[in-house]
Amino acid sequence: MCQDIFSLRERVVIVTGGCGHLGRELCKGLAAFGAQVVALGRNEDRFLDLLHANQADAPGQIECRRCDVQDEAAFATIMADVARKYRHIDALINNANNSRRESWAELDKAGWRAGLDGTLTHQFTCAKIAGEYLLKADHGSIVNIASLFGMLAPQFGMYPEGIRGPAAHHAVAKAGVLQLTKYLATMWAAQGLRVNAITPGWFPQKRGPERPDFMREVTSRIPMGRIGQPPDLVGAAIFLVSNASAYMTGQNLVVDGGYTIW
Ligand SMILES: NC(=O)c1ccc[n+]([C@@H]2O[C@H](COP(=O)([O-])OP(=O)(O)OC[C@H]3O[C@@H](n4cnc5c(N)ncnc54)[C@H](OP(=O)(O)O)[C@@H]3O)[C@@H](O)[C@H]2O)c1
Repeated sequence: MCQDIFSLRERVVIVTGGCGHLGRELCKGLAAFGAQVVALGRNEDRFLDLLHANQADAPGQIECRRCDVQDEAAFATIMADVARKYRHIDALINNANNSRRESWAELDKAGWRAGLDGTLTHQFTCAKIAGEYLLKADHGSIVNIASLFGMLAPQFGMYPEGIRGPAAHHAVAKAGVLQLTKYLATMWAAQGLRVNAITPGWFPQKRGPERPDFMREVTSRIPMGRIGQPPDLVGAAIFLVSNASAYMTGQNLVVDGGYTIW
């Protein structure tokens, strides 16, 4: 047994939403462990930020590509191109997420469908397309990013006036992410492609810090007494992509400072 079980050298890892708040930290962490990372996002302005943030001496490199992951054809073209360039694709991190926070009163059928598509449907289509390549890898791995609200219902009483909890479609879609993870895990286990999920607990939002009174309420419910920070998520991703988790599939790693244990 040696530390190399965590090595990602020569692994090509696709990260959807790789320039986002948590995604960029995942990309940097995977590159630090040797992966060639391909970060997908829609907003090219964020690419330079991510490329500059990657340590110049990191053993792995990050490449950014413009791709709307809800556009299956665009994603398929990029996968074919990446496979041509690197000759293999070893892992997919389904991290992108795009959902609004409509209240129950505001939510209609179109908003419900858009929410499911923005959170869940692209995890299905990306897994379907990338799966063709990952099945050919020696140690393929898919990591689906879920949410606490896929496991727990929101406690509406803890949200003060002016702060919204997740919309119904978001909670349902993230629960779907966990079930998709188990379904794909059993379907592909015998072929050596592993599928696991990570459930982040409370992490900072890209729109900036929430109100201090709300954050006090949230942290009072977290045994470790603080919300997560983006680097807190990185170890779980490295673990699930690497050989360190070679005998794990269909599981959900909850990274929440203990929020779900009491
Ligand atoms: N932050 C939290 O507290 C928290 C808690 C639990 C779970 N999570 C989960 O963690 C993951 C990352 O969240 P985050 O906080 O980092 O959110 P974020 O900053 O909004 O990042 C999400 C990224 O997804 C990208 N994206 C959305 N739709 C896309 C599409 N159709 N095609 C390509 N890229 C798309 C966005 O990129 P562009 O807008 O540039 O295209 C954005 O960079 C999500 O799955 C989220 O549900 C977050």
